[in-house]
Amino acid sequence: MRFDRYRVYQVWDLFIVLSVALVAVEIPLRLVLGDTPSLSLTALDVAIPLILLLDALAQWYRPEPVQPRARASRLASARVAWLSLDLLAAIPFELLASATMLPLLHLVKLARVAQLMRHWRQQAVQHANVLRLAFFIYWLLLTAHWLACGWLALGGNTTLADQVVVYGFRRYLRALYWSITTLATIGYGDLTPTTDAQIAFTMTVMLLGVGVYGYVIGNVTSILANIDMTRRHYLENMERLGAFMRYRNIPPLLQQRLRGYYAHLWENQLGGYDESSVLADLPDSLRVEVALFLRRDFIEQAPLFQSASDELVREIALQLRPVVYTPGDYIMRTGQYGRHMYFISRGTVEVIAADGHTVVATLTGGEFFGEVALLFSQPRNASIRAVDYCNLYVLDKDTFDQILARYPVFAAHIREEAEKRRPQPTPA
Ligand code: CMP
Repeated sequence: MRFDRYRVYQVWDLFIVLSVALVAVEIPLRLVLGDTPSLSLTALDVAIPLILLLDALAQWYRPEPVQPRARASRLASARVAWLSLDLLAAIPFELLASATMLPLLHLVKLARVAQLMRHWRQQAVQHANVLRLAFFIYWLLLTAHWLACGWLALGGNTTLADQVVVYGFRRYLRALYWSITTLATIGYGDLTPTTDAQIAFTMTVMLLGVGVYGYVIGNVTSILANIDMTRRHYLENMERLGAFMRYRNIPPLLQQRLRGYYAHLWENQLGGYDESSVLADLPDSLRVEVALFLRRDFIEQAPLFQSASDELVREIALQLRPVVYTPGDYIMRTGQYGRHMYFISRGTVEVIAADGHTVVATLTGGEFFGEVALLFSQPRNASIRAVDYCNLYVLDKDTFDQILARYPVFAAHIREEAEKRRPQPTPA
């Protein structure tokens, strides 16, 4: 398997986000519950700064995406600032001064986590909503935990009996219960503040809870609704289509074909986004890359492109326009004048002779048709009918002519094929 640096960084980033969560849980908890030195805690004291130090280096040497020159100086100072923050977080405070609050400084690393999350969301456009939800839960759980720690620090949730009996983990569990019920604005009232500090703290958490509640109502519902946006888009389109067809009394058979067409678009991941308009919005260099990627299967299977130069393949990939035909559709008819030739990406078509019923050939993925009329400026010499759903790419005559003029070897190849298919149409 090839060493993929990008993948390694992805896994490392995930590891860091989880490690920092562990740090953000463990350090405040240890501060409020008191230090109970054990082997695992000591191991953690060594492991945490080490991991954070490794990450400081990893982030410093991270291959950044190419930045425009004007921003280079700003970028350099931002990188130094981030490095300082990473290094600060990596200082082994526990080993230097464990009894103090200093270990809390590890938590500045959360700024890096927030930055990584932003980066992921930008990168994973497709799953941006799922990530948004996951990150929201991450921060919500951490907040609930911190508030529970704050509650413990203020000596909260201790009924008289608890004060005597409840220690350690069970004390924390109660505090977490208090923080979640208060944060979720449920507030059963079984754990109530008694001191002034506790009352002030509880009020603050209640206000925060109202904010969180508002956020959940406003955003989480829309996140959940958007998670499968393309599918929703498809279903909405189908519903609109259904209403339209009923309203206009479209015959049942035609209705079936229309539904089949959209279902085909959906299944082939062609629905929802118009490939050409997405490409049209891109800058040149990206457009070529994306067009080549989208059309890679087709280009790889087409014998015509096997011997073509990279330059030619890039040019053709850019100029192709995708179209879909449903079973039984006539893509062209004998005797018509045509200004396009077609490449088959997926599906099968029949070449029907001028008599209207003899099938002279069947063409499938990777093959092309409609070149004869363009090459010899003559009417179509046969009809072409789609046998099943066909994903085709269209090339218009002007581009076709330009390409033939510039790539003689390719032109010879096409001409040779066209000569074999050339017989003149016999008048029907
Ligand atoms: P054109 O004449 O532009 O339109 C009809 C197309 O059918 C023609 O170009 C060829 O590409 C294709 N065609 C015609 N005859 C044959 C054949 N015998 N075998 C394969 N394809 C053909």
